[in-house]
Amino acid sequence: MEKIIIQGGRKLEGTVSISGAKNSALPIMASALLTRGWNYFSNIPDLKDIHTMAQLLRGFGVEVIEKKGAVKIRADKIRHAEAPYDLVRTMRASVVVLGPLLARLGHARVSLPGGCAIGARPIDRHLKAFQEMGADIKVEGGYVEASSKKLKGARIVFDDITVTGTENVMMAATLADGTTIIENAAREPEVPDLAEALNKMGARITGAGTDTITIEGVDELNGTEHQIIPDRIEAGTFLMGACMTRGNVILQNMIPEHVSALVSKLREVGALIVEENHSLHISGPKEIKSVDISTHPYPGFATDFQAQFMALMTVANGTSMISENIFENRFMHVGELNRMGADIKLDRNTAVVKGIPHLSGAPVMATDLRASACLILAGLVAPDITEIHRVYHLDRGYERIEKKFRHLGARVKRAKVKY
Ligand code: EPU
Repeated sequence: MEKIIIQGGRKLEGTVSISGAKNSALPIMASALLTRGWNYFSNIPDLKDIHTMAQLLRGFGVEVIEKKGAVKIRADKIRHAEAPYDLVRTMRASVVVLGPLLARLGHARVSLPGGCAIGARPIDRHLKAFQEMGADIKVEGGYVEASSKKLKGARIVFDDITVTGTENVMMAATLADGTTIIENAAREPEVPDLAEALNKMGARITGAGTDTITIEGVDELNGTEHQIIPDRIEAGTFLMGACMTRGNVILQNMIPEHVSALVSKLREVGALIVEENHSLHISGPKEIKSVDISTHPYPGFATDFQAQFMALMTVANGTSMISENIFENRFMHVGELNRMGADIKLDRNTAVVKGIPHLSGAPVMATDLRASACLILAGLVAPDITEIHRVYHLDRGYERIEKKFRHLGARVKRAKVKY
């Protein structure tokens, strides 16, 4: 086990390059299951979740060659169509193999992911949509067993927005008979990125990035080349870190439009943010003003920024209200921030954060990916030592995070935990 040790109190200063988006790379790697011939995906981040997806695909008999910053995948022969519990429980996003396997082979057996630290996270909306496309779905022994001779195009209206649900159905529909229309589709940038990759493979998708996506089924898809978009959540995490430490940072290789809702909030907080081509320059404020936020699907304020924004608000001047509307239990970081001296009270889905002048370093525990990033930000402004345990959560989703923070002047290191 490893821990991250932070000696806070330094401003973040310098330039940071943003890595490829984990949440785009995962479904795009899964989409290779729909194709014959080699796929070459670039701007792939070096993350635990990416290696888990590679392992999952190899388990199906698919050829996967991981390279530095890229992955080559060929799924000419798929020998097994079972995603085992041992892999799915370590990465919920494994569920995005269900749609492609079902469409390509007519059957799939995928472990149900179960709940996680941020909520129950069922996949009922995915399954209902597959049934509407003609699939027979059974849940037995903790596994979803899906089968269908040939999926049929259908009009799918999601009751509520689901990102991986939209992706799963969009992938399945590419090889279905006829046209599928997804209404109330997720508009997160990872959805149009996946649609672009699928269209390069020969799919016929329009409307991705809006709330209505139309997919005309085709007979087959072929391997392609695609570059993954930059990770907007990583970019946002550095923006909030720069703001919180009152630093001065240029973010490169990113898409400013993907973080618009956050940038607008950080300007209210007092940061000066200038947009350039594929980059943002942020100068932190003298005084951090308290601002309320409420999480919503894209283009609203992302739930994946909520924990880090809360860390920022712990040292704001005044009180802010942070409402979480996507996940029912995404407040595990509250107790850890309070251990660092923060004054946060929870009232159902809203955290009331009273800003204080300084946090103080403490041993804390990471509970999920974004909560871990929130604790790093908190550690950066606590003048003494913060030790973050269970950092394996961070390695699932942030590439070389401590190196990137060190490059910006922070005193952050990783150490083995001895028990
Ligand atoms: N939901 C259902 N039934 C479903 C699907 C979703 O009730 O069939 C609920 C969920 O429990 C949740 C809400 O709907 O309360 C939204 O869930 P969604 O399906 O949109 O989330 P997801 O697709 O599982 C993706 C990201 C998450 C991100 C959310 C919200 C990937 C691989 N994961 O999850 O990213 O928080 O969308 O934007 O794309 C992260 O990267 O740390 C992360 C958790």
